[in-house]
Amino acid sequence: GAPVKVDVGGLKLGEMVIAEWRGKPIFILRRTPESIGVLKDADFKSRLVDPESSLESQQPTYAQNDTRALGDELLVLEGVCTHLGCSPKFVPEVEPQTYDADWQGGFFCPCHGSRFDLAGRVFKNVPAPSNMKVPPHRIDGGVITIG
Ligand code: FES
Repeated sequence: GAPVKVDVGGLKLGEMVIAEWRGKPIFILRRTPESIGVLKDADFKSRLVDPESSLESQQPTYAQNDTRALGDELLVLEGVCTHLGCSPKFVPEVEPQTYDADWQGGFFCPCHGSRFDLAGRVFKNVPAPSNMKVPPHRIDGGVITIG
């Protein structure tokens, strides 16, 4: 499929938009400095299955870092659960307590309860085996090109 361009110039801190690429939902999230701090925190990372995103199939090498991103702020993620392919729901950092007192926001899969952080990394003790996939992308100013 052709690359898809998304203008994210108007995306506010903490907001997410959903694009589509190759028939899949693509989540694009602008993260706050607070949530970026959480993603890099060692105690927080100890709760994840693959905190260093070592599984190479799940992201390009330029996204093999704590925020799984080019620069820390903008996350580009395939909105597909790595368990059986449902689309997880975005849970902004302001309302995580609704799900789990200890959670800091991220993505929640309604099908069998898998939870992911704000970089799409999977938490321990849920059905999904691996981190959600980061598609190939680049960022030029306020425009993201996926594919
Ligand atoms: Fe997401 Fe099963 S498909 S938890």
